[in-house]
Amino acid sequence: KSYRVAILGATGAVGTELLELLASRNFPIADLKLLASERSAGKTLNFKGENLVIESVSDRSFENVDIVLASAGGGTSKTWASVAVEKGAVVIDNSSAFRMNPDVPLIVPEVNPEAAATHKGIIANPNCTTILMTLAVWPLHQVKPVKRIIAATYQSASGAGAKAMEEVKIQTAAILQGQQPVAEVLPYPLAFNLFPHNSPLTDVGYCEEELKMVNETRKIFGDQDIRITATCVRVPVLRAHSEAINLEFETPFNPDEARAILSNAPGVKLVEDWQRNYFPMPIDASGKDEVLVGRIRQDISHACGLELWLCGDQIRKGAALNAVQIAELLVEKNLLK
Ligand code: A2P
Repeated sequence: KSYRVAILGATGAVGTELLELLASRNFPIADLKLLASERSAGKTLNFKGENLVIESVSDRSFENVDIVLASAGGGTSKTWASVAVEKGAVVIDNSSAFRMNPDVPLIVPEVNPEAAATHKGIIANPNCTTILMTLAVWPLHQVKPVKRIIAATYQSASGAGAKAMEEVKIQTAAILQGQQPVAEVLPYPLAFNLFPHNSPLTDVGYCEEELKMVNETRKIFGDQDIRITATCVRVPVLRAHSEAINLEFETPFNPDEARAILSNAPGVKLVEDWQRNYFPMPIDASGKDEVLVGRIRQDISHACGLELWLCGDQIRKGAALNAVQIAELLVEKNLLK
């Protein structure tokens, strides 16, 4: 059996990766529709050697579609998801619009695939930083429950979209030529710099990105008691996020045991060479499916603490790959309408 798929936001950083992944993973496609804004209508994108014409999204876009992969921002998803569901499609939404809606499953296929069975037409793809963290923490949490997570992130420009990635390159070139960098997409120059994450600040003093890590992880793990705090920072890296994660358990967690568990965990690749001081780096994680995890060590400040470090491709596992895996899960479990 094959399926009629639409990509909403096909021209974006995540949209183009979705196109690549549907082709390389041989997703069973009967028909593929590329949707974006009016700005892109009429342009073409290549899929398996064929040039497909991009359409401007409208009511009619969702007729005769089985699966919508949406990655065009929260506002666009809010406008079009219900239209698509009404017309009979299942929407896998990459925006934050529906993630905390109790009627919408929030899924990392390696962690909570069973949640897919409860969907009512919309499934949310979690925040990129959250997806990467859950892949490393869930397998440990299965063996010994995590009480508290303290995370610090080093997030790439890609999370802010293709235009932000381009801006960092232009800023870098400008600085190397002795010119002032210009920031238009991101709030401040990112080249040769970093700044606390640019998502809106909330009244508890955390930015929205930090609260996504808190609330989404609890929802994905099905554990409202787990305590989580995070500091999210943008760094001048193009497409892979890094995270320093401190985990506190009820009882000590032997680092070698954690290493053994993570070397067999789905979606995770253990990367550690203590002799060479070689550990996960964004440059190595870029373009890869797996989250690279390493530098696993005993927290010297807490007997029940464990430290680890990870890097993962923001566009792939942080967004497009996770969404395609959700689509594959729906096919495998026969959960499409
Ligand atoms: P377009 O290229 O036509 O603007 P990114 O996350 O890389 O910034 O990409 C955002 C994606 O969302 C692009 O494909 C963009 O299309 C699409 N998009 C943005 N606003 C709209 C809109 N109002 N309707 C449809 N697609 C949109």
